[in-house]
Parts: sequence; C-alpha cells; structure tokens
Amino acid sequence: MMDSQWILAAGAGLVLLLGVGAAAQTTGPDAAEQAAGAGAPAQAAETPTLDGATLYAQRTCIACHGPDAKTPILPEYPKLAGQNAPYMLRQVLDIKSGARSNGNTAAMRGVLHLVTEDEIKVLVEYLSGLQP
Ligand code: HEC
Repeated sequence: MMDSQWILAAGAGLVLLLGVGAAAQTTGPDAAEQAAGAGAPAQAAETPTLDGATLYAQRTCIACHGPDAKTPILPEYPKLAGQNAPYMLRQVLDIKSGARSNGNTAAMRGVLHLVTEDEIKVLVEYLSGLQP
C-alpha cells in the first residue's frame, strides 16, 4: 500500500523532473528542485545502499545520458561510459556546487539533489567501468 503509493509518487516526480530538466536552462535549478522535492526524502530513506547500475537508472541519469551512458538524448550532452572516475567525480561535485556552470550544466544541476556524495562516487565508478 505505502510502497505502491510511493512508486506512483516517484513516477510522477520523475516525469516532472525530466520535463523540468529539459527546461532547466530557462527555468533554473530551483524549479527542478521544487518539482522533485516530494520524491527525494522517501527515496533516500528507503534505499540506503544501491549499486551503480540501479542508481544510474533510478536517479534519472539514464534519461539524459542514455541507457548505455554513451547515447545521450542531445548531441551536446556528454557520453560518460569509460570516462575517468576521479574526473567525473570532480565534475559532478563542481556542477552541484555551481563552481562549474558553463554550457548545459543547469540541466544536470537540477537532478543532483537526488544523489548523496557517496552515491555519486558509486555512480562514477560504475560509469568508468563501462565500455566506451
Ligand atoms: C536533465 C539531463 C541530465 C540528467 C538527468 C543527468 N545529467 Fe549529467 N549532464 C547533463 C549535461 C547536459 C551535462 C553537460 C553539462 C555541460 O554542458 O557542461 C552533464 C554532465 C555530466 C557529467 C560530466 C561529464 C564531463 O565530461 O565533464 C557527469 C559525470 C554526469 N553528467 C553524470 C550524471 C549522473 C551520474 C547523473 C545521475 C545522477 C546525471 N549526470 C544526470 C545532463 C544530465
């Protein structure tokens, strides 16, 4: 009962998120944060430790960077498969903090409240191990 409600809420949040993510360049990261805010705490409480593949799919990375992390939805979005993990960790943390704010980073920043720093580390390790 609780679970299915959560899944519905999370699903709705995801759809919102992806719409907002795509529009983040005009609306800014705050709108994306608001749109996804409802789903995030439940997710964090329910899933303490997850593997990289699950996080990649569940925390929406897959939507922009592609199922194999090398078929991004837009040509100017980066491929991640096989990229160096320490490099990616730095980039994601810089995008999250705002230190990196060039190009299309606004789209990316809008979802980074969905992942903890530990989860980002798991994610970049997973991505660096994929075939480029
Ligand atoms: C709404 C679309 C979107 C989502 C969702 C998204 N990203 Fe991104 N990501 C981008 C874009 C666009 C960039 C490039 C920003 C730029 O132009 O500088 C990027 C950049 C990155 C980079 C840096 C790549 C580099 O070469 O510097 C990494 C690593 C990354 N994303 C990982 C992730 C992970 C992990 C997730 C899931 C938690 C995620 N992304 C979710 C759109 C997205």
